[in-house]
Amino acid sequence: MKKSINQALNEQVALEAESSHIYLSMASWAEKNSYHGVANFLYQHSDEERIHMLKLIRFINEREGVAIIPPIKQPKENFKNLSEIFQSVLDHEIYVTNEINKLVEITLKEKDFTTHHFLQWYVSEQLEEEALARQINDRLKLIGNDKMGYYIFDRDLGNIDNALHANETKDK
Ligand SMILES: [Fe+2]
Ligand SMILES: [Fe+2]
Repeated sequence: MKKSINQALNEQVALEAESSHIYLSMASWAEKNSYHGVANFLYQHSDEERIHMLKLIRFINEREGVAIIPPIKQPKENFKNLSEIFQSVLDHEIYVTNEINKLVEITLKEKDFTTHHFLQWYVSEQLEEEALARQINDRLKLIGNDKMGYYIFDRDLGNIDNALHANETKDK
């Protein structure tokens, strides 16, 4: 694989690793603050980001590139509330989508159609993750300051996670 593609893919490896760490930190905060459904959801999300990273590393190796295992900076560990967390999730996912789009653009410029094809999986994944993050933020806006609302939100998010996971297992 071309050096420019290899380098761009390694940057994405680092970003997926960072995403996994960010969600891990959020999950831990949620767990400490007794939002167990939210914690489950975010632990699962963190695992998924690690799988995104792994998929890239294995693709790079398969194409005889050099995969770099990146250092990961320490993520933020304190949050005001769930709204702050899920707004950050949405902002982060939008950022990742933009980075994936840039990566796709590079593959076209370099006429690397194999990597271009490989990245389509990430394009659809980002579409889904952004849509889900938007839905969650919309629900939080509806809840406002209703304590009971947060209780139900937490319970439902634990279930959303199970439902998504059930779909994934079905797909395989
Ligand atoms: Fe990802
Ligand atoms: Fe993501």
